[in-house]
Amino acid sequence: MTSKATAIAHPNIAFVKYWGRLDDKLRLPMNNSISMNLDPLSTITTVEFSDVYKKDDIQVLDSQTKKSDTSRVTAHLELIRKLMKIVTKARVVSKNTFPQSSGVGSSASGFAALTLAATKAIGLDCSEKELSILARQGSGSASRSVPTGFVEWIAAASSNESFAYTIAPYNHWDIRDIIAIIETSPKRVSSTKGHLQINTSAFYNARLAKLHQTLAEVRTAILEKNFRMFGEAIEAEAISLHVVAMTSKPAIFYWAPATLRLIQAIQNWRLGGLEVYFTIDAGPNVHLICEAKNEQKVKQMIAVLDGVREVLVAQPGEGVKLSENHLF
Ligand code: PMV
Repeated sequence: MTSKATAIAHPNIAFVKYWGRLDDKLRLPMNNSISMNLDPLSTITTVEFSDVYKKDDIQVLDSQTKKSDTSRVTAHLELIRKLMKIVTKARVVSKNTFPQSSGVGSSASGFAALTLAATKAIGLDCSEKELSILARQGSGSASRSVPTGFVEWIAAASSNESFAYTIAPYNHWDIRDIIAIIETSPKRVSSTKGHLQINTSAFYNARLAKLHQTLAEVRTAILEKNFRMFGEAIEAEAISLHVVAMTSKPAIFYWAPATLRLIQAIQNWRLGGLEVYFTIDAGPNVHLICEAKNEQKVKQMIAVLDGVREVLVAQPGEGVKLSENHLF
């Protein structure tokens, strides 16, 4: 057999974050999370299953792919092969439109695109929910890159119930994620390590206890397009994740000196009337969230700050979809 398919997916930024797992192998999260897909940042992936291939051949263009990354891809192909009860090997070629050095994780967009391309190529027709469940098992946050726009991923005790769905379409709210790149080197501590050591922080349970309220606030703020309510909730939520990381053992400090300078600058800009809020993932880069009307102003303000190496701008994006532009 020979069959080929190509899919394109955006990475996402979490406003309520996934931190800690109930089940490491199935990647079941401890809590619901809420995110937005980031257009135009994207990963495009072509998969071809063929008897010609003696083993899986995985190539990520323009990047130094680590062995651990290709073995995660192979494991994901294996999962999909098992569903179809076949053993045919595949060739996978993948390309990111954003620099790998940007610190924007490509595992969410990568595993979302891989899941759609591989299932299509193998002849498996999946619903959005099924794709999200499969993508989740490659990378947790990939489950959120499957549906369009603003998305919530459900925490559940069984695999079939833990998937992401759209809470509002991508054109619902014209907001921006202005990503200030502070460090271009790889993360000092992987999020995988962070997920594993949550229980060593005395603050983890306090974070979980508050999340129910945070999720409700962020969901409502998105639906009602209440930017102030949204900004205040997502900022407090990001700080709470970093407090857990800093107080776990060994302590993880994702922030660099320039991260803190930017946080302080954002607080000052707000006092001056510029409505911009931040969120920060498992790294030093700062995601500045504002309404579209303030994009230029925020970019100008960042441009004069010390320690910002590059700026990327993203807006709400669609979910994973098929493409005719095969990479080989
Ligand atoms: O998908 P992972 O294992 O890299 O974990 C992602 C963790 C955060 O980016 C910090 C939060 C999130 O929900 O994306």
